[in-house]
Amino acid sequence: MEQNPTLGGGFLQLVVESDGRLIGDIQARAPKHGFPPGVCEIGITLAPEVRSRGLGLEAVELLTAYLLEQGLAWVRASTAVENVAMRRVLERAGYTFEGVLRGYAPTKAGREDYAMYALTRGY
Ligand SMILES: CC(C)(COP(=O)(O)OP(=O)(O)OC[C@H]1O[C@@H](n2cnc3c(N)ncnc32)[C@H](O)[C@@H]1OP(=O)(O)O)[C@@H](O)C(=O)NCCC(=O)NCCS
Repeated sequence: MEQNPTLGGGFLQLVVESDGRLIGDIQARAPKHGFPPGVCEIGITLAPEVRSRGLGLEAVELLTAYLLEQGLAWVRASTAVENVAMRRVLERAGYTFEGVLRGYAPTKAGREDYAMYALTRGY
């Protein structure tokens, strides 16, 4: 398989829209020399006023289905261990908890642990 054919330059960024309003963005990232072929990572941010209405789950489900349809084999996502909303979104979208990335992301206080999730096709 060609290196991440769906993602072209290695980055897909889409707006999330609801009732004609821009409410956030969602991305898929596959840096050319960063991940093995067929692997990408997703991320999402919604505006504070539209959170907890089911829109994050819907957007993640739609992007994940699209990426798998396009031939990606391993879609991953990571978030702060304390980010209950994102962890719940990933679990409800069918992602499997793969483990904890210790001290993964920098914060003002030091570094924080991230929870890694992945959804695989045909594994
Ligand atoms: C994380 C985020 C995308 C989730 O989207 P959302 O639209 O708020 O979440 P949903 O309404 O789709 O909720 C999905 C699940 O999470 C739960 N949930 C949502 N907000 C929650 C909260 N603040 N605390 C606990 N659970 C929460 C919902 O109850 C639902 O679970 P359920 O079906 O079992 O009830 C959104 O809150 C966001 O943009 N947050 C800030 C940016 C961020 O953290 N992005 C991820 C970084 S990797």
